[in-house]
Amino acid sequence: MKNIACVVLAAGKGERMKSSTPKVLHPVCGRPMLGYVCSLIAELKVKKAVCVLGYKHELARRHVAAGITVAIQKKIAGTADAVATGLRVLGSFKGTVVVLYGDTVLLKTQTIKKLVATHLDRQADVTLLTATLEKPQGYGRIVRDKYFTISGIIEEKDANEVQKAIKEINTGIMCFKAEALKSVLGRIKPNNRKKEYYLTDAIGILYGSGRIVEQVTLEDADEALGINSRADLAKVNGIMQRRINQDLMESGVTIVDPASAFIGFGAKIKPDTVIYPFTVIESGVTIGARCSVGPFIHLRLGTRVADDVTIGNFLEVSRSRIGAKTFAKHFGYLGDSRIGSMVNIGAGTVTANFDGFHKGITVVKDKAFIGSDSVLVAPVTIGRSARTGAGAVVTKSHNVQDG
Ligand code: UD1
Ligand code: CA
Repeated sequence: MKNIACVVLAAGKGERMKSSTPKVLHPVCGRPMLGYVCSLIAELKVKKAVCVLGYKHELARRHVAAGITVAIQKKIAGTADAVATGLRVLGSFKGTVVVLYGDTVLLKTQTIKKLVATHLDRQADVTLLTATLEKPQGYGRIVRDKYFTISGIIEEKDANEVQKAIKEINTGIMCFKAEALKSVLGRIKPNNRKKEYYLTDAIGILYGSGRIVEQVTLEDADEALGINSRADLAKVNGIMQRRINQDLMESGVTIVDPASAFIGFGAKIKPDTVIYPFTVIESGVTIGARCSVGPFIHLRLGTRVADDVTIGNFLEVSRSRIGAKTFAKHFGYLGDSRIGSMVNIGAGTVTANFDGFHKGITVVKDKAFIGSDSVLVAPVTIGRSARTGAGAVVTKSHNVQDG
């Protein structure tokens, strides 16, 4: 989108999380919150983007995508102060400024495009993204005048009983004419219970000066959900998980019980693979076509599974590659391993990949047959078509030759 700049607010500590980790680094389906807003910005193809960080910003900035400038808010003095911090980086930018939040990860690109389109179409000074929630608790409420025009936003903490009953809420996502935003920021005062500079006060001020305030309502109110607490985190995680599972099913993956398939953001699974219940597949894992995975399987970071593989019950696989048509049907642990194709991994096989100091690699070549309850002490290689007997312990560096 041309002549659009984004300001992401992500400086807060997230007091309600009661965490020493900055709120925006808490993962949703295995990916830090900040990652989602970075992708959103990439998809919008905006002219400029700035991410406002504060609490533990050295840590947080590692998760800000290249191309997005970081601005540091020295004191967490409120959302208006955070926007002002971001604007300083944008300098004399004259187009449309979209305010995004680091803690609102369910927003879809289409929604922002629609917001911006409406904003430009109506030549508004500010356009709000609002939602109607059955339980609006915790959100700023949209206040309207007697002509039903939006006249301001009142935060829950400062609202009276009548205002608290309003179900139309502020998602926090707003679009401003840069000039209107600049003109209003200096006029916001910390006259509220938290003694913070609230961006939401900009709406009442713009309305009072006869500026045009417009609004777009979210069709899917879930997109509005901000994460303030651990309970919010769990709720949003659940919704994101449903989206991930839905996308996979649409692409041809069978998920026997989507409610117990925990698949991380960015895991890739090819068609006709079947995921059985109680399976955890972490972000970045790739699984080929026609595989059978689960029940009770944990596939961890860095694992790549080829086509036609069976990974049965109670198995943990970490940082490993598993070749085509290999079977690992019953409990065990495969860590830092390179398993070839058409290998049979017997029940209870363990790669002892850690000697207390270093992690070692276990290589099992094509068509090898690993007997039940084998322990393979890394670093070690089992040759092509070689066999180990039940209960074998293959000690460190005692490689087994082919055949
Ligand atoms: C805010 C809105 C509220 C809206 C809700 C939607 C204000 C005053 N309130 O409330 O109307 O319904 O979001 O989710 O804007 N942040 C900074 N610097 C600061 C303060 C906050 O960068 O000084 C960042 C936070 O890191 C967070 C975002 O701004 O990502 C929102 O702050 P938060 O404290 O979560 O605001 P809410 O209470 O949720
Ligand atoms: Ca919030």
